[in-house]
Amino acid sequence: MGQALSFFKLTIEDVPIEHKTVLVRADYNVPLNKKGEISDDLRIRASLPTLRYLLDRHCKVVIMSHLGRPDGRDASLSLEPVANRLAELLGQPVAFVGDVKGDQVVQAVKKARAGSVTLLENLRYYREEEANDADFAHEIAAATQARYFVQDGFGVVHRAHASTDAITRFIPGVAGLLLEKEYQTITEAMEHPRRPLVAVLGGAKVSDKITVIERFVDVADKIVIGGAMANTFLAYKGYGMGASLVESDQQPVLERIYAAAAKKVGQDAVDEFIILPSDLAVADVISETAPRRVVMADAVATGDKALDIGDQSIDTVVETVASAQTVVWNGTLGYAELPAFAHGSARLALALATQPQTTSIIGGGDTADFVLKWDGGTGESFTHVSTGGGASLELMSGEKLPGIERLLDARK
Ligand code: ADP
Ligand code: 3PG
Ligand code: MG
Repeated sequence: MGQALSFFKLTIEDVPIEHKTVLVRADYNVPLNKKGEISDDLRIRASLPTLRYLLDRHCKVVIMSHLGRPDGRDASLSLEPVANRLAELLGQPVAFVGDVKGDQVVQAVKKARAGSVTLLENLRYYREEEANDADFAHEIAAATQARYFVQDGFGVVHRAHASTDAITRFIPGVAGLLLEKEYQTITEAMEHPRRPLVAVLGGAKVSDKITVIERFVDVADKIVIGGAMANTFLAYKGYGMGASLVESDQQPVLERIYAAAAKKVGQDAVDEFIILPSDLAVADVISETAPRRVVMADAVATGDKALDIGDQSIDTVVETVASAQTVVWNGTLGYAELPAFAHGSARLALALATQPQTTSIIGGGDTADFVLKWDGGTGESFTHVSTGGGASLELMSGEKLPGIERLLDARK
């Protein structure tokens, strides 16, 4: 990384937090499998540095989070399994309370000692949470009697909810270490990257990521497009995409993107700046048994679905990132849930993992899931695997995130 910028908000390291009761907002919105077990605990592990920091300083730690999008109380979305996993990872008990406010919480916090951890139930059992209801936030603050509010749920700071926004009206808010690291790493890559900066963008839809693509046209030295997003780009260029996933209503957006790109690098250099796949891996159906067939981008048959970038395009991606100092990757390069169509994403992961001198920043829920599985669950093969989906996209786009804005400003 280049020169570290100082963070614009106060963090837990800036305030006299020792021996205080602290209310931590985490993002424990973790994926659950069909049996209701936690299938990926990245977000829980990512919260440990802040928790350990607070516990080492004898804080009484009370944590709140949401899980999923329940409509009222829903036992299948209880945070209790998260309390158990957190206890294992921390190596100390985690008291679980079946509510977020009221007498149960008052009693639990009273009973809790310095150096203990209490996890409250799913905030979204109350519709007041997403409504950013001030009375609800006040009730949480009153029940916990917390001296500081610590925002460490990076994945949810793009939401203005009671636990990310209104709560700061009742308890002074500071950033946790995960939030600070996510913010600093992503902002640094967008604003002061070591160059060349290559953005690799893929995933399902152009329409999900318009502002991010536009930002990268501004800041990146090259942009590689893959995934179904590439289908939409190729269709815009006039290629027949057969039965592939294509967003046909994105023409005006692509027109804007290409106009901005031409203005930046010149019309003749546009196709070396925004790099589209030259070949594609196709199948007739999306299934475990569908074989990977590679065809040139101009030879997609009527019944073909393009599900991955082709082998020649994979070589181009690998060569392109080889010359980069910074790579920001968001969106899988194909239908990576199926191994036959995960070649592009896997070869990119391998390239990044074997060039540790390159700063690699990976964002997006599905992309983070993929690289974590790929490297055995730790994410250590990369510089930074973001815990944020929507939050990391919005931060990369240069948007202000309400959950960060509301925290106390750092003194200049
Ligand atoms: P992220 O969550 O990392 O931001 P997205 O949600 O945008 O990524 O995209 C990931 C999804 O896109 C995956 O479910 C993947 O199967 C799908 N996808 C990628 N490429 C294709 C393709 N060529 N055809 C259909 N689906 C695709
Ligand atoms: C996420 O997983 O992106 C965050 O936890 C936010 O969840 P939400 O999209 O349901 O608000
Ligand atoms: Mg996704």
